[in-house]
Amino acid sequence: MAGIEVKARTALITGSSRGIGRGIALKIAGCGVMRLGVHYQKNREAAEETARLLRERGAEPVLIQADVTKPEDISRMFAEMRAAFGSLDIFVANARPDVQHFYQPVFDLTAEHWRAAMDSQATALLLGAREAVGMMGHGGRIIAVTYAPGGKTGSWRSWAAMGPAKAAMEALLRYLAWDLAGRGITANAVSPGATDDSVFSTLPSAVLEALRGWAGAGWVPMGRLTTPADVGDAVALLCSEQAGFITGQTLYVDGGASLASADFPMEFQRGT
Ligand SMILES: NC(=O)c1ccc[n+]([C@@H]2O[C@H](COP(=O)([O-])OP(=O)(O)OC[C@H]3O[C@@H](n4cnc5c(N)ncnc54)[C@H](OP(=O)(O)O)[C@@H]3O)[C@@H](O)[C@H]2O)c1
Repeated sequence: MAGIEVKARTALITGSSRGIGRGIALKIAGCGVMRLGVHYQKNREAAEETARLLRERGAEPVLIQADVTKPEDISRMFAEMRAAFGSLDIFVANARPDVQHFYQPVFDLTAEHWRAAMDSQATALLLGAREAVGMMGHGGRIIAVTYAPGGKTGSWRSWAAMGPAKAAMEALLRYLAWDLAGRGITANAVSPGATDDSVFSTLPSAVLEALRGWAGAGWVPMGRLTTPADVGDAVALLCSEQAGFITGQTLYVDGGASLASADFPMEFQRGT
């Protein structure tokens, strides 16, 4: 069988100024998706760096500022994409507010924290997908970046707002998948494991060291953290022609971390 083929040419990736969003932009540009909306909220310098890296790869990036918790900003973001490129093949909902806006255990959550999580995830996907499909033809792709364990386990205390928001976003994707199937548009999620060169790089270095140690101890069977490039590869796969029959799914990009179980000591699971 020949290699994967990505026919899409135009993409909007929210939160592509840095971290995982940047990794996705760079990887899909490498697959020929050259007309790219590089979206950011406040960090224009980082967005310009993503754009510079994209231009190095021959791409044609357009910078778009928007707060995805504001419906009017979402409409403007798509209007700017339409003005720049006319149509859209790929919409990646990746942006997530900085931790101070939502990161609290359940009894410390305010309504604002809760709304920041829900608005930036489920609501932003709903409003964004509606705008996106109006610009998409057959073969369009909608992809959301989730952290699926956060919506299932309740194990990460300060994710008490974001876990439910990601779960709602994933559920919405399945409804979108049904409604868009007849138009040949797929809707899927990718679920990275704890990722190097992402939000964790903005936290004290001890956090990243602890995560790397955890990955190396066997909790990630492949022995390392996820990278933005790993997530970009998964998004590129879902954007390929060969993935046109995959819809409504959540693809884990975590080196097997989601296979580990709390029922057994790690030495049993590692088989050592
Ligand atoms: N990091 C991980 O280990 C991990 C694991 C699983 C899933 N994920 C998911 O992957 C996605 C990206 O995570 P990351 O760690 O790469 O993020 P990050 O480095 O913290 O970057 C966040 C991005 O979202 C943008 N943003 C922040 N608040 C926004 C708002 N209100 N409106 C619009 N854009 C906003 C930021 O723009 P500015 O640069 O302008 O601030 C930035 O581009 C998130 O959905 C996250 O939940 C991450």
